[in-house]
Amino acid sequence: MSPITTGTPSGRPYVVVHVAVSLDGSTTGFQPNIGLFYELAARWDEDVTLTGADTILAQEEALANAPRPGPAEDGPLLIVVDGQGRVRGWDALREAGHWSDVLALHAEKTPPRPPGRAVRELVIGRERVDLNAALTSINDLGGVNVVRVDSGGALTGALLQGSLIDEVSLLVHPLLAGSEERKPWYGTQSLTTKRLERIASQTFDDGIVWLRYRLRK
Ligand SMILES: NC(=O)c1ccc[n+]([C@@H]2O[C@H](COP(=O)([O-])OP(=O)(O)OC[C@H]3O[C@@H](n4cnc5c(N)ncnc54)[C@H](OP(=O)(O)O)[C@@H]3O)[C@@H](O)[C@H]2O)c1
Repeated sequence: MSPITTGTPSGRPYVVVHVAVSLDGSTTGFQPNIGLFYELAARWDEDVTLTGADTILAQEEALANAPRPGPAEDGPLLIVVDGQGRVRGWDALREAGHWSDVLALHAEKTPPRPPGRAVRELVIGRERVDLNAALTSINDLGGVNVVRVDSGGALTGALLQGSLIDEVSLLVHPLLAGSEERKPWYGTQSLTTKRLERIASQTFDDGIVWLRYRLRK
């Protein structure tokens, strides 16, 4: 598949949210087509994967037991928003074979971290991680054109509310996840109206539909 061309606005990288959802908009409560999800995700060739602590914690046990081939030299940098200092498995993340390195984003109110912890960190924001400032700092790292957000909804909702997203990519699976532990891809906080325009859509044999939308400024 050919790579996706992205326009980079000034001051921060191009930010795309790529998420597997059910027809009722949930990111959880079903088994997504992981192979297709990552095949499509690779088309952005992201420089940074940005995720939230809850997304990492949901896979912490699996990660702890997964093979550790070591950092992927040419892989993206994994940046984790961890305002409450809950993530522990930094080494497992770095060595999972997907990312070149990991970076933790904390706030001034984040509880103290264990001394000698082997992860770079950036303290940005007072009560919570300041997502706007964080994206500017990510830009300042240099060579970061595309950030792909991998989130269950809480992080995406906050980024949406801050007008920090350029593109939403939904891989819609033909099922209803139901209400139990449903996590809408846009989060649960109240959002102001957002207008989007379609970039592309594609259907796959198993009834999955890929929808790409640009956020209107
Ligand atoms: N279907 C998919 O494609 C997909 C993709 C990824 C994950 N998931 C699933 O989604 C679930 C996790 O999703 P989630 O929605 O609970 O969590 P999440 O998307 O991982 O987001 C939680 C993170 O966002 C931060 N955050 C939220 N609002 C913020 C704000 N206003 N300012 C700064 N930071 C903010 C939180 O900060 P604090 O650290 O301060 O709490 C936390 O670190 C898991 O079950 C995972 O498996 C599904």
